[in-house]
Amino acid sequence: MNDYLKPSKRLGFHPTDKSVGIHPNILITGGTGKLGSELVKIYGAKQLGSRKMNITDFKSVKRMFDKIKPELVIHSAAKTLVEQCEYDKELATEVNVAGTKNVLEASNKYNARFVYISTPAVFAGEGGPFYEDSKTSPINHYGLTKLQAEKLVINSGLDWTIIRTNFINHGRYPYTSAFTDRFSNYLFTNQVANAIKEVETSKIRGIVHVTGDKTYSMYDIAKILSPKVKKLTMKEYNGMRNLGNDLRLETKRWKKYKLKIPKKN
Ligand SMILES: NC(=O)c1ccc[n+]([C@@H]2O[C@H](COP(=O)([O-])OP(=O)(O)OC[C@H]3O[C@@H](n4cnc5c(N)ncnc54)[C@H](OP(=O)(O)O)[C@@H]3O)[C@@H](O)[C@H]2O)c1
Repeated sequence: MNDYLKPSKRLGFHPTDKSVGIHPNILITGGTGKLGSELVKIYGAKQLGSRKMNITDFKSVKRMFDKIKPELVIHSAAKTLVEQCEYDKELATEVNVAGTKNVLEASNKYNARFVYISTPAVFAGEGGPFYEDSKTSPINHYGLTKLQAEKLVINSGLDWTIIRTNFINHGRYPYTSAFTDRFSNYLFTNQVANAIKEVETSKIRGIVHVTGDKTYSMYDIAKILSPKVKKLTMKEYNGMRNLGNDLRLETKRWKKYKLKIPKKN
């Protein structure tokens, strides 16, 4: 491969050359997160966490945009811990809503194509499965902030796609117990990152659900990763009540993916 076609290590993005299929300059927010770090690998982009670009600080956002001059922005940064968002609503709103507004404003300057990563938490948490055009009705503050951000994206005037999805990392399950009665069509994080690129490079626009072809409880998945994980019901859980137990996503607009279970060593 010619040197000029390789992703630049210094700047962390590909040179612009659509004619040879090389991706345009890309900026991925939340690049140190679970999903963002997979996207960074796939796109060969710069790894941006909050220290390199704090999305709540417009000057910091503008500085990075002026450096990268993105033609494509994938906005994955957010406060993602549902319970933390519930107990610190102000911070969740600042990052997830005001932060998204800053990223959109900077994207406008470069007229960047905009991909926003969203969640089934914009729905009611019961009465699913939920399609792209199902009624949104968040039951916790995290879901509310993600929905408010979706609305900002829709009204941004940019060329946008909103991808709602749900994922879990490979590797050891990080808790000792997992819900047997909270469901979604989970995929693994690296699968979702690859699917995001498929959606992004397709002609599809608007809201798209990237989802699995099968429903699992969190316990079903956790047991695959950590066979000793214990069962927990939502009633037994002594944390937040308004988590919702039905997070199933369906799609009318895109294909569904089969959960790729990692092979044991
Ligand atoms: N996890 C899920 O199951 C799930 C499901 C559906 C949708 N989503 C959505 O998918 C996206 C990625 O989720 P994730 O679980 O991969 O996230 P994560 O692991 O919690 O990582 C969050 C990322 O956001 C960054 N961030 C937080 N505050 C920031 C700020 N003020 N300025 C700049 N960056 C900031 C973090 O940077 P630092 O490392 O510097 O803090 C980190 O890179 C989110 O938009 C989330 O709402 C997640």
